[in-house]
Amino acid sequence: MDRAVLIDEIRQLKQELDAVILAHNYELGEIQDIADFCGDSLELSIKAAAIEARTIVFCGVRFMAETAKILSPDKLVLLPVPDAGCDMADMIDAASLRAWKAEHPGALAVCYVNSTAEVKAECDLCVTSANAPELVEMLPADREILFLPDGNLGSFCARNGRLLRRWDGCCPVHQRMTTAMVERRRREFPGAKLLIHPEAPPEVTALADEALSTGGMLRYVRESQDATFIIGTEIGILHRMQQENPDKRLIPLTEQAICPHMKRIRLEELLYAMQNRRTVIEIPEAIRERAEIPIRRMLERDFSWL
Ligand code: 13P
Ligand code: SF4
Repeated sequence: MDRAVLIDEIRQLKQELDAVILAHNYELGEIQDIADFCGDSLELSIKAAAIEARTIVFCGVRFMAETAKILSPDKLVLLPVPDAGCDMADMIDAASLRAWKAEHPGALAVCYVNSTAEVKAECDLCVTSANAPELVEMLPADREILFLPDGNLGSFCARNGRLLRRWDGCCPVHQRMTTAMVERRRREFPGAKLLIHPEAPPEVTALADEALSTGGMLRYVRESQDATFIIGTEIGILHRMQQENPDKRLIPLTEQAICPHMKRIRLEELLYAMQNRRTVIEIPEAIRERAEIPIRRMLERDFSWL
């Protein structure tokens, strides 16, 4: 179908469904362009909690659409491709987490937002890459912390000496980043600012000028006076970053940093999903209620429960 016709039909359906289209910064350019709002996990959660429209069409991966549903249970939340998952989120399940907690009674369980609703329901606090170190440091120093599922983000939170136990999960896309890639890019582009996502291995993150969430990277490049940036995260971010900064030079740390789950939704899938009201995200109320607690604590920066 002609792109312009596709876009027209999606816009019409948006009215009919009273829908807002949210997209993660890693989505395909054509999806970012048609979305009402693009952002990182934290920005998208804040948006999902505040939306007034009846329908949220979530162009991202399942845990993100689940987070939107947890925060806005009365809304229709659609994930256009039902099996767009997250390899990292699938590295821990609720039963394994319960077993881990049983080995460490009294410990606080802190989950990265990249986790399933069932896992969040077992946790005390949720964090994203935009706020993890700061929120972890606000927890009492004498409480043991179980951090999951991302071991690398856990290491990043521990970099100032905070002791925490880390689950051995990772993002396969960021895990492939190496110090050799950094050295090569530094040689090719001397003086460029190196921005790395904290899902990368600690030895790579340690070389960064700044370790930032995807939203943090976009803000940094927008506000910086520098001209050249090496971007160490999934390459979908370069679309909007380049649109926003036409005169700046943006170099991916590696062109191989592609999350297949984030590339599943094209305009065709988006249109089909809206036409057929698919796929509806549903979460059993008993899980949703419990999963909402650690997310609200994060959003409201509420530590009164401690
Ligand atoms: P942020 O966009 O929150 O930085 O997260 C990156 C990511 O891997 C999302 O899956
Ligand atoms: Fe999950 Fe990694 Fe893809 Fe993000 S980039 S959705 S952490 S697999």
